[in-house]
This record gives sequence, C-alpha cells and structure tokens, in this order.
Amino acid sequence: MIEPKPADSVQCAGCGMIIVTPCLYNGQVWCSERCALRDKEFGQIHDSLKTAHLSLAESLSTALDMREKNTGMHSKRVACHTLLLAQRFSFNDEWLHQVYWGALLHDVGKIGIPDTVLLKEGALSEEEWEVMRTHPEMGRNILADVPFLIEATDIVFSHQEKYDGTGYPQGLSGEEIPLGARLFALVDTLDAITSDRPYRMAGSFEQAQSEIIAGSGGQFDPSAVGVFMSLERELREMVRLKCIQPHFHEQGEQS
Ligand SMILES: [Fe+2]
Repeated sequence: MIEPKPADSVQCAGCGMIIVTPCLYNGQVWCSERCALRDKEFGQIHDSLKTAHLSLAESLSTALDMREKNTGMHSKRVACHTLLLAQRFSFNDEWLHQVYWGALLHDVGKIGIPDTVLLKEGALSEEEWEVMRTHPEMGRNILADVPFLIEATDIVFSHQEKYDGTGYPQGLSGEEIPLGARLFALVDTLDAITSDRPYRMAGSFEQAQSEIIAGSGGQFDPSAVGVFMSLERELREMVRLKCIQPHFHEQGEQS
C-alpha cells in the first residue's frame, strides 16, 4: 500500500489528536501512535485486565514519561512490545499480565529522583548515578503493597539487571533475573538507541539491532535475543511509529 503524502497535518481517526507527521495509514484513515499501541494492547491483554486498575496504572506511567521523555508513550510502547516477546515463551495469561504490568511500570521509582538528576542534559557525576540507581528499589517500594502486582514488582526491581551480572541493584545474572525483565531489557534498549537524546541523534533500527546482537550473552539473554530477531518486522514497526512524534494543537483545542 502506498501511503499518500498528507498536507501539513492530519487528524487521528481514533483520538482526534492532530498529527504533524502521520504515523499510520490503513488505507482510509490516519492514526496516532497512541491509538496504534492501544489497538496492539487490546489484541493481547485479556478483557479482565481492561479495568480501572489498568487505566490508573497507564495514567501513572504516562505522567512519568511526560516528565522525563515528553511524549508520554515510552512505557506503553515498551510494555506492548515486551509482551510480544513474552508470548514466544508462554501463553500463561497470568504471567503475561504480570510482564505487561512490570514493563509498563518499570520506571515508576523515578518519581523519587530529583529533576536535577533525572532531567540533567549532560553526563551524570558518580554521586548523581548513585541517586539514579536507587530507582528500581524505589519502584519496588511504591508497588510493594499492591497484591495483584507481585511478579510485576519483581520485574520493576530487576529491570536494570544485566545477564552477565554487571547490572544493578543486586548484580543478578542469568536466570536469577526474572524472564520478563530479561525480555524488557531488549525492548528498552531498542527504544533508547532509536530515540533522540540531548547529546546525540537517534540511531537506526540496524544500529540498535547490531548492538543487541553484540550484547548477546553479555548484557542480554541469548534466548531473548533469538526471539527478538524473529520479531524483526514488528519491532521495526514499533520504531517507525514512535519516530514520528504526534503534536497537540498549540492553541489547546484538545485540552
Ligand atoms: Fe529504569
């Protein structure tokens, strides 16, 4: 299908968001990344999870993303695609739900990191890194009393661990790290490399892919890298959609 070239901006058929450069054209209408991810998630998340709990958790993760990354879509994006990888390992609904929640809320502990560290544009000093490295533990503490998030909380606590044991906060290695966290690490790295940072431009999918392959057995679980490779088409689409940032009308029509 050949995508028509739009005028200056078009409107998402799903949420009404004005998209300066459209994300998705399905043959009839334009769609924002927000709506594309919602459709992806609805295809995978069991009806019982489409509850007030889910809405509230998604609002919280969106608020955190807006503080750190502006667009508010990072957590949702990595959660949807971690779930995609997870389905290659198990169809156990309960486990898949926990993986989704864990990936969605992975950085919830950053709510406790001061702006001077979280939003700093230059390199962090060693003292600032020490503060930053507390966020998995803060995340675990925030979620500790939520009974339906027990496994998800383990993912939040271990999402910065590395397969070879060089991560934090516990320096876990191999299968000591929950599988959901090992899968999340790949998708988060793909999203990080292909996103602009204050100090560098976004890299390509190919760059991210070769870094991930190079990290197999080091930072990343080799079996997770194998699954990552088998999902190249879907993951390329994730990068393509997110690279086109939606914008709200400056005059606030959407507010
Ligand atoms: Fe993190």
